Amino acid sequence: MIRVDKSFAQGMFSISGKVALVTGATGALGGAVAKAFGYQGAKVVMTARNLVKLRALEAEFKAEGIECSIFAADPGSSGEVSKLMEFVVSTYGELNILAVCHGYNAPKGILEQSVEDWQKIMDADLRSVYIVCKAAAERMVEQNKGGKIVVTSSARSKMGMKGYTGYCASKGGCDLMIQSMAIDLAPYHINVNTINPTVFRSDLTEWMFDPESAVYQNFLKRLPIGRLGEVQDFIGLATFLASPASDFLTGGNYDATGGYWSN
Ligand SMILES: NC(=O)c1ccc[n+]([C@@H]2O[C@H](COP(=O)([O-])OP(=O)(O)OC[C@H]3O[C@@H](n4cnc5c(N)ncnc54)[C@H](OP(=O)(O)O)[C@@H]3O)[C@@H](O)[C@H]2O)c1
Repeated sequence: MIRVDKSFAQGMFSISGKVALVTGATGALGGAVAKAFGYQGAKVVMTARNLVKLRALEAEFKAEGIECSIFAADPGSSGEVSKLMEFVVSTYGELNILAVCHGYNAPKGILEQSVEDWQKIMDADLRSVYIVCKAAAERMVEQNKGGKIVVTSSARSKMGMKGYTGYCASKGGCDLMIQSMAIDLAPYHINVNTINPTVFRSDLTEWMFDPESAVYQNFLKRLPIGRLGEVQDFIGLATFLASPASDFLTGGNYDATGGYWSN
């Protein structure tokens, strides 16, 4: 007899009815994750610092029948994140999924960059990730129902790049922090993993998608899949890591690079 539970196999990718908090929801990847989770029946709380953009997203999602709420907060502020968690629980009763999708970069060579500019990147891409993950984990432990934490890291977490001393260090730190966090939280059935993307289309990366540009041509040389990422390419892995299908996976750094890491 082959031991596969039929109802598990049939519903293992479902996140319907789950309460998901998405940080960086006003960004390209966060917005896509929030909408994709909403389309799949999750109740979505979207957060970022820009309330005007959040309001626009809320209107767009609600017009499509997505159950969602918004709360403006800086993920780098423990006080604001604490209020955010209270909002999630008072609005939907609990928190089941945290998708961390915020981030920042301002590339500059070490000789030109100030320590303050470097610290700003470290704070946005590492310290704030710790703050939101810690606050979410505390809620999940209190609820005693397990949970899923999915953090957007980067393909650059495992490789350096010119002008990226802040970004590569913060993302590399993020991968290791998440691995350690996964061990801390495993006894509570909370899975913690990263997605490590290469270039995906966003306002900041749009210029790299010009097929005539040298940057695009150079990327393609190392991208066996033959193109850069569209936000739709991101949502499958995000859903998988938020769903029961990934219950055995924790502390992983998952490649969303179109083969860039393999080449
Ligand atoms: N797109 C890519 O090619 C790519 C590749 C590898 C990794 N990533 C990672 O994926 C995540 C999302 O990227 P994206 O392309 O969706 O970025 P994006 O479109 O530029 O959006 C960035 C998001 O982060 C928030 N944010 C910006 N600066 C922040 C700061 N200093 N502190 C806290 N939040 C800040 C923004 O919202 P508010 O300003 O409203 O707070 C926004 O929601 C980031 O961690 C990024 O490093 C992206």
